[in-house]
Amino acid sequence: MTIDALLALAKEAMNRAYVPYSGYRVGAALLCSDGTVYQGCNQENAAYTPTVCAERVAFFRAVYDGHRDFTAIAVVGGKDGEITGFFPPCGVCRQVMREFCRDDFLIHMGGAGGAVQTCTLAELLPYGFSAQRHMQ
Ligand code: THU
Repeated sequence: MTIDALLALAKEAMNRAYVPYSGYRVGAALLCSDGTVYQGCNQENAAYTPTVCAERVAFFRAVYDGHRDFTAIAVVGGKDGEITGFFPPCGVCRQVMREFCRDDFLIHMGGAGGAVQTCTLAELLPYGFSAQRHMQ
């Protein structure tokens, strides 16, 4: 699976976003180590706090299906579905990534005009709290 192919699946997932409040459509495509891909979209709520991000929807779908080993995630988003810049994962999503992923898990953010910015989880969440620390 190429980065471009994963980003294309993330863009496709933006179409499923349920965003009556913010108008920000976000799509994610999570690559499992066995090659399976799970897509996710953000889903908002009239009470606001129940809103879930695209990244977590992708993770929760994958974990429900028995996946625990992940390689990379592609994320794209923008107001009314227009990608004008990178859409970095929020802190809560970074913590969910930390639960299941190693330091070298890759986050590919798609930007305007096909630009891509890639970071590792260690870069996005340095000195994070993980299951390993919990068990020390
Ligand atoms: N959102 C995501 O889907 N992923 C993130 O990592 C950041 C924020 C969503 C939540 C909300 O529906 C919208 O973007 C605006 O914050």
